[in-house]
Amino acid sequence: MSDQAIDVGRVVEAVRSALPGGRPAALHEPSFGGHEWQYVKECLDSGWVSYAGEYVNRFESMLQDVTGVKHALAMSSGTVALHMALVVCDLKPGDEVLIPALTFVATANAVAHAGCIPHFVDSDIGTLGISPGRLEEYLAKIAEVEGGMCVNRQTGRRIGAIVPMHTFGHPVDMHALMRVAAKYGLVVIEDAAESLGSLYENQDLGNFGRVAVLSFNGNKIVTTGGGGALLTNDDELAKRAKHLSTTAKLPHKWEFRHDEIGYNYRMPSLNAALGCAQLEQLPSFLERKRMLAKRYQHAFADVSGVDFFVEPSFARSNYWLNAIMVRRELAHDFSARDAILQALNDAGFMARPAWTLINRLPMFEDCPTMDLPVAEEIERRLVNIPSSAGLVEPE
Ligand SMILES: Cc1ncc(COP(=O)(O)O)c(C=O)c1O
Repeated sequence: MSDQAIDVGRVVEAVRSALPGGRPAALHEPSFGGHEWQYVKECLDSGWVSYAGEYVNRFESMLQDVTGVKHALAMSSGTVALHMALVVCDLKPGDEVLIPALTFVATANAVAHAGCIPHFVDSDIGTLGISPGRLEEYLAKIAEVEGGMCVNRQTGRRIGAIVPMHTFGHPVDMHALMRVAAKYGLVVIEDAAESLGSLYENQDLGNFGRVAVLSFNGNKIVTTGGGGALLTNDDELAKRAKHLSTTAKLPHKWEFRHDEIGYNYRMPSLNAALGCAQLEQLPSFLERKRMLAKRYQHAFADVSGVDFFVEPSFARSNYWLNAIMVRRELAHDFSARDAILQALNDAGFMARPAWTLINRLPMFEDCPTMDLPVAEEIERRLVNIPSSAGLVEPE
């Protein structure tokens, strides 16, 4: 069946009616309505614009408060924070790391930077993240645990970790996933790049894995321009990540001695100053984004052939990017999705598809993968629509 079954004009009208003023809108723009100018100026005036500045410490302590995680280390991007997470969790070159096929390319890039091999997992249609049930069935077929270590029988390599990614802010079913990970001895590293402020069963994401990672890229709910963070409740791991993410320098008043190859991945204070002002506004950003999601849900309630994606029942999502889904029976190919993308973008409402599945990108096409029927279905059905917090005013 083709796009004939969907009235794309009604899709455009639904988006227009959900946005106050109905004006053209970008997909996700930052809002700088707080203390951003003041803190960045204070940082410049202090002269401490780089890694040793006070704003980095302040930003980290705010992140700890916001997420409830014991240690937060601010880094220069989410990608490098993920790389650092893999290093401190002792993933070795040649190990396989399970990641969703449906994710932003950075998840796979970080795995490759650590010398590891991405191994792709299918998604769940209710969360858009890794499906713990399908993963468990798959591991039962291809993996075995030898002396506490998970080995891929087909490649002979260790499967060392799993990286659940909370897609567009919607949490993976973490309890089910943690159970599978424990059964197979897998380290869990949460890619929470998109999900700051989202809750799984009333607990902040970032508290479930051994390590979690956030991104503060300009398109995220809170931005530092560019930046990321590594979160962990493990004291030793935090200490090691701090050591390696600087220059692995031994403490001394004037001598330069380094005992490992450091990465210099820390976030500069100038970016952290922006981040402090942004984090102060997180509650208001979350309120606005959830209001916008409600407006879309209402607007799409009677548009036939398309559903607004609603957070899973166990979650309170930050709705980082809102999504609509073409009905399954109308999405045997990409034509309905593409007709919607064309109509929305033509009308000035920036819309985009889900990422091309990572297993089809040239640098990852030879990596191991399970069958991906659900991820492929999501790719055919999903369209992201304008989601900036600034599109609505709190009531
Ligand atoms: C799922 C996911 N992982 C990782 C990243 C990497 O973050 P960054 O762009 O800060 O390197 C991003 C965002 O950009 C992301 O969406």
